[in-house]
Amino acid sequence: MRAPKLYAPAAFLLPIVLLSVLICPVNATGRGFNFTSPPTQCKNATLQFAGDKPVSFTDLIIIPTGTLHPETRRITWIAINSTGSGYTFPITYPGNSSFVISTIDTAGFSNTTLKITVEPSDDASCLNPTQTVPDFTFSVDPPAPTQACPFNIEYRNGSKAAKPPVTFVGLVPGGQSLQITQLDGNTTTLTWTPKLAPGSQVVIAAQDSVNDIGGSTDLLTVAGSANFTCSGTATTSSTASLPTKTGIIAPGGGGGGGEGGGEGGGEGGEEGGSGEGEGEGSGSSTSGSKGNGGTTGASNTSAAAILQT
Ligand SMILES: *[C@@H]1O[C@H](CO)[C@@H](O)[C@H](O)[C@H]1NC(C)=O
Ligand SMILES: *[C@@H]1O[C@H](CO)[C@@H](O)[C@H](O)[C@H]1NC(C)=O
Ligand SMILES: *[C@@H]1O[C@H](CO)[C@@H](O)[C@H](O)[C@H]1NC(C)=O
Ligand SMILES: *[C@@H]1O[C@H](CO)[C@@H](O)[C@H](O)[C@H]1NC(C)=O
Ligand SMILES: *[C@@H]1O[C@H](CO)[C@@H](O)[C@H](O)[C@H]1NC(C)=O
Ligand SMILES: *[C@@H]1O[C@H](CO)[C@@H](O)[C@H](O)[C@H]1NC(C)=O
Ligand SMILES: *[C@@H]1O[C@H](CO)[C@@H](O)[C@H](O)[C@H]1NC(C)=O
Ligand SMILES: *[C@@H]1O[C@H](CO)[C@@H](O)[C@H](O)[C@H]1NC(C)=O
Ligand SMILES: *[C@@H]1O[C@H](CO)[C@@H](O)[C@H](O)[C@H]1NC(C)=O
Repeated sequence: MRAPKLYAPAAFLLPIVLLSVLICPVNATGRGFNFTSPPTQCKNATLQFAGDKPVSFTDLIIIPTGTLHPETRRITWIAINSTGSGYTFPITYPGNSSFVISTIDTAGFSNTTLKITVEPSDDASCLNPTQTVPDFTFSVDPPAPTQACPFNIEYRNGSKAAKPPVTFVGLVPGGQSLQITQLDGNTTTLTWTPKLAPGSQVVIAAQDSVNDIGGSTDLLTVAGSANFTCSGTATTSSTASLPTKTGIIAPGGGGGGGEGGGEGGGEGGEEGGSGEGEGEGSGSSTSGSKGNGGTTGASNTSAAAILQT
C-alpha cells in the first residue's frame, strides 16, 4: 500500500499559450457547463457555458480517467474563448473511456464534471493509435492523499525539460477543483496538505510555463486520517503558495492539432480509487492556472521508470 506506485499519465498539448490567472474568491453560482449531446467518439461535442458571466478566456482542462492499455489519450489544457455560448471540439477519446472537465479563469475554477463516459461510435478515424508520452513527469508520495496529511509531489524532466513555473491542479469530479501550487523553479518538490473530504476523488495534473504537459495521476481517493494522525509520510519543504503570475493569453486557439502529451506506462496496484466518483471538495485552497504533469511513485522512482511501459 505504501509502495511506490506509478501511474500512467495521459497528457495532451495544443500549441496555445494559456491564460494568465489571478485568482479571486469564489462566487455564488459559479460557472458550469454541460454538453449539448452525449460526447461521442470522434464526433464533435459542444460544451455549453452556464452560470456566472464568463471571463473572456478560460483554460479548459480535460483529463482522461481510468487506464487504457496502451494509454493513447492526451490531456487537453488550452485557453479558449469563453465569451460565446459554448465551445465545440472533437472527442478524440475511445468509446467507453471516461474523462473529467473543468475550466479555470481569473475567477477561479468552474464546477467540475463528474466522470463523463464517451459514447462508442464506428468512427475511429480521430483516435490516436500510439501510446502517449508526457513532456515531463511527476511523482507523488504516498500513492494517494489523506485528508490533512502531507502529500508530496515531485516533478522531473521527461521527453522535454520542464520549464518553471510548473503548475499543479487537482480536479475533483463533481466538486471544487483547486490549484495545488505553482513551483517557481527553485524547487522541484512540494508538499500539499489536502483539505478534501475523505472519500473525495481527485486527479492531479501539471503543466509548465510553455504549456508542456506532465501527465496526470489516476483518480485518487482521499483517505480519512484517523483523528488526524498522519502516518509514514515524510515532509519536505515547500508550501503551497498563491499563484503569482502565469502565462499570457493567446486567442485563437481552438484547434486541433496535438502535440504529444504523455503517457507513462507504469501501473502499480490499484487503490480503492477507480470508483465512481462523487467528490465533494470541502477544499479551500487557491485556484490557479495551468500545468500538467503526471505520474506517481515514491521519490526514489526514476523518471525512466515512470516513462516506461
Ligand atoms: C467538427 O467541427 C469542425 C469545425 O467546425 C469541422 O470542421 C469538422 O468537420 C467537424 N467534425 C465532425 C466529425 O463533425
Ligand atoms: C445541462 O443538461 C441538462 C440535461 O440535459 C439540462 O437539463 C440542463 O438544462 C443543462 N444545463 C445547461 C446549463 O445547459
Ligand atoms: C455549480 O455547482 C453547484 C453545486 O452543485 C450548483 O448549485 C450550481 O448550480 C452549479 N453552477 C453551474 C453554473 O452549473
Ligand atoms: C470571443 O468570442 C466572442 C463571441 O463569440 C467574439 O465576439 C469575440 O470576437 C471572440 N474573441 C476573440 C479574441 O476571438
Ligand atoms: C462499451 O460498453 C458497452 C456496455 O458495457 C459494451 O456493450 C460495448 O461493447 C463497449 N464497447 C466498446 C467499444 O468497448
Ligand atoms: C531539466 O532540465 C533542465 C535543462 O537541462 C535543467 O536545467 C533542470 O534542472 C532539469 N530539471 C529537473 C527537475 O531535473
Ligand atoms: C528563487 O531563487 C532566486 C535566486 O536564488 C531568488 O532570487 C528567488 O527569490 C527565489 N524565489 C523564491 C520564490 O524563493
Ligand atoms: C478518534 O477519537 C475519538 C475520541 O477520542 C475516539 O473515540 C475514536 O475512536 C478515534 N477514532 C479513530 C479512528 O482513532
Ligand atoms: C533508491 O533505489 C535504489 C535502487 O533500487 C536503492 O538502492 C536505494 O536504497 C533507494 N534509495 C532510497 C532512499 O530509497
